[in-house]
Amino acid sequence: MRLARGSRLVVATHNPGKLAEMTALLAPYGIETLSAGALGLPEPEETAEDFEGNARLKACAAARGAGLPALADDSGFCVAALGGAPGVVSARWAGPGRDFSVAMARVEREMGNAADRRAWFISVLCLALPDGRATCFTGRVDGAVSFPPRGTHGFGYDPIFVPEGDRRTFGEMRPEEKEAISHRSRAFRAFAAACLSLP
Ligand code: IMP
Repeated sequence: MRLARGSRLVVATHNPGKLAEMTALLAPYGIETLSAGALGLPEPEETAEDFEGNARLKACAAARGAGLPALADDSGFCVAALGGAPGVVSARWAGPGRDFSVAMARVEREMGNAADRRAWFISVLCLALPDGRATCFTGRVDGAVSFPPRGTHGFGYDPIFVPEGDRRTFGEMRPEEKEAISHRSRAFRAFAAACLSLP
């Protein structure tokens, strides 16, 4: 499934931050983006059990609704000692106030002094066509959980995640340093290699 230069693509998100990030990433490939929000498409419930299922659900709903190709993403933070939790419910652990200090405190509480400190971020991007075809690309970054939280950059669980090969948390890295190795940029690079063409 390749998208020709000049194609229009729906970015299946109602989050202005994600829309801006995707629009910037897609611009060099000559892809024009439209947002699901601006098209008035409803936001489907994320009912699948894994990242790929949720990304697929969002991309297929937007592609069908708009009659155009659509791209969706789903991501989260996984802790080995918690059996992969919070995983697909990473955002929900922050509660209705979207307070990630609450979510990070819960990770610390539930991990206790478990010896296994391994953790990873996953990002799945799914490209869907109006005819129902869909293809997904996964990016992952491995590392360890570290308390107390450190750093003021980034968002979500960044202050408690130390990627392999570094001693700093994602929250202590400059945005471009995080993006060079992040789960999201790895998923995007896989998607771009398979589906996009540079001039
Ligand atoms: P969603 O992809 O919008 O469903 O959000 C998934 C949740 O995973 C976010 O709200 C964050 O809590 C967490 N998450 C995903 N990517 C990152 C990241 O790069 N840093 C920190 N937290 C992240």
